[in-house]
Amino acid sequence: MTLLELVQNHCQQALHLLFTSQIGHLYNNELEISVATNSKFGHFQFNGAMKLSKILGQAPRAIAEQIRGQILAQQDPSVIIFADINIAGPGFINFVLHPEFLSQQITQQLLDPRHGCSKIAEFKRVVVDFSSPNIAKEMHVGHLRSTIIGDCIARILEFTGYDVLRLNHVGDWGTQFGMLITYLKQNYDISQINNLSLTDLVNAYKQAKLTFDANPEFKQQAQLAVVALQQGDQESYSIWQTICAISRSAFQEIYSLLDINLLERGESFYNPMLPAIIADLEQQNLITISDGAKCVYLDGFTNRDNDPLPLIVQKSDGGYNYATTDLAALKQRVNLEHAAWVIYVTDAGQAQHFSMVFAAARKAGFYDENIVRIDHVPFGLVLRADGKKFKTREGETEKLIDLLQSAINKAAEILQQRNNPEFTPEDITHMAKTLGLNAIKYADLANNRVSDYMFNLDRMLQFEGNTAAFLGYAYVRIQSIKRKINLDPTQLVLTEQIKLQTPEEIDLGLQVLQFPSVIANFSKELLPNRLTDYLYNLAEKFHTFFHNCRVEGVAEQNSRLLLCEAVSRVLAQGLELLGLKLLQRM
Ligand code: ARG
Repeated sequence: MTLLELVQNHCQQALHLLFTSQIGHLYNNELEISVATNSKFGHFQFNGAMKLSKILGQAPRAIAEQIRGQILAQQDPSVIIFADINIAGPGFINFVLHPEFLSQQITQQLLDPRHGCSKIAEFKRVVVDFSSPNIAKEMHVGHLRSTIIGDCIARILEFTGYDVLRLNHVGDWGTQFGMLITYLKQNYDISQINNLSLTDLVNAYKQAKLTFDANPEFKQQAQLAVVALQQGDQESYSIWQTICAISRSAFQEIYSLLDINLLERGESFYNPMLPAIIADLEQQNLITISDGAKCVYLDGFTNRDNDPLPLIVQKSDGGYNYATTDLAALKQRVNLEHAAWVIYVTDAGQAQHFSMVFAAARKAGFYDENIVRIDHVPFGLVLRADGKKFKTREGETEKLIDLLQSAINKAAEILQQRNNPEFTPEDITHMAKTLGLNAIKYADLANNRVSDYMFNLDRMLQFEGNTAAFLGYAYVRIQSIKRKINLDPTQLVLTEQIKLQTPEEIDLGLQVLQFPSVIANFSKELLPNRLTDYLYNLAEKFHTFFHNCRVEGVAEQNSRLLLCEAVSRVLAQGLELLGLKLLQRM
């Protein structure tokens, strides 16, 4: 049980005993207990007395007094949890946990390899659909966000005990491949195309599109090429495979650098399932023909003129759409992958696409919303430090690999300026890579994902503030304390207890003990910034503690060393869940 749940339970029990006859089942669900913002007055707070006052016809303060009395009376005298419960203002109840209780809890958490986090018991499969760039196109910053956020979500859910299937739903199918294949055949030596780079392909694609729009003969050839590809024509298929392989290796360069694992299962995988999807929809009478296209109309979706907005599942030329593939993918994931939860991580611009696909899938009975959870996890734009959209001067999209490399170079510059004689050039190279990539990932995750954010390398590489380096530095500091004291905390914890005494120790200890709640609550909102905020506070509280409480050579040395160790383990675990790498020295 997390600390928060513990306080919730006590409060809930008191409410039941005191007021059930008047309030009924009002508080059968989770009680709104919050972590107090200022630990001077208490550690947790309950503000429900105001709301209860209307129902009970009593003053909030009087209600708060009764709750306080009841909780103290029901407390087991052999395990004192609350040192104090006080009432502030109109009737806020502040809970102060007993330092001995906290000490005992944190020592226990230190002994637990899962840091107090419980694991979900049931076998539950989650599909996380993330990254998902398009073949023969450069990955853009939006894909970078999806990659970083998706990986973090997958990591936390894996840690929570879900069976996570990480899927890369690459755009590798569609009419555009007809153009590209035709263009390559006409302008390149086909036996040599495997030597092309992704940039070459992107350029060829642009030319192909221009030719397609200008030249009716080419247009017709391209359309025939789509049909040939669909029908498994050997040559077209092998060109398509080469195009995919070239793109894949360019994407892989980024995944390797960022240490991202995911299974490529692109749109082409679902292509054979599309006719059956249409047939199914037709059989259920869900299809309306509009201008020759097969459409599904859904309640509540209209365009700007308030006309009903259709979900087009098959165009008049017989081609299928992005949405058709997503319907097939959803069905496949639920029925064949047995997913209990499907998560899509894309930019907010696709929100309407997904709500329509989910609505259509429900209407067609592809999934039961009481059994399967489906989430679109949207995110905002990445803007340049000057607030403009991410394009180079030539109007091209910035290459991601260059962006990542610039962070690494900048980190190397900073490290070289520090001129620390301890580090060899190899150390600097390794550290710069870690610091640079950590900085990019952290800045992305630390912003509430729904808002836009500015990509500011200078800021994200700072050692102060809510940055990766600041958290990494707290970790490094603890490692150096450990080296200095030269006692093995893993051994020490078997015989010694943590004793939280000073306000800084209690504050820090309490923060360490909140980790399980942060993890337990993550699945509700899927907001990585909740974890970064938590870790940032942890690092700040550690610095306050370290500034005020001596560790080495004092009577409290062992307890404080163990407290540092508890912080370091939570930091390490938290950073790993964000997908960041640790440095032992900085
Ligand atoms: N390829 C798409 C894009 O670049 C993202 C795919 C997201 N996943 C999905 N199942 N639709 O915008």
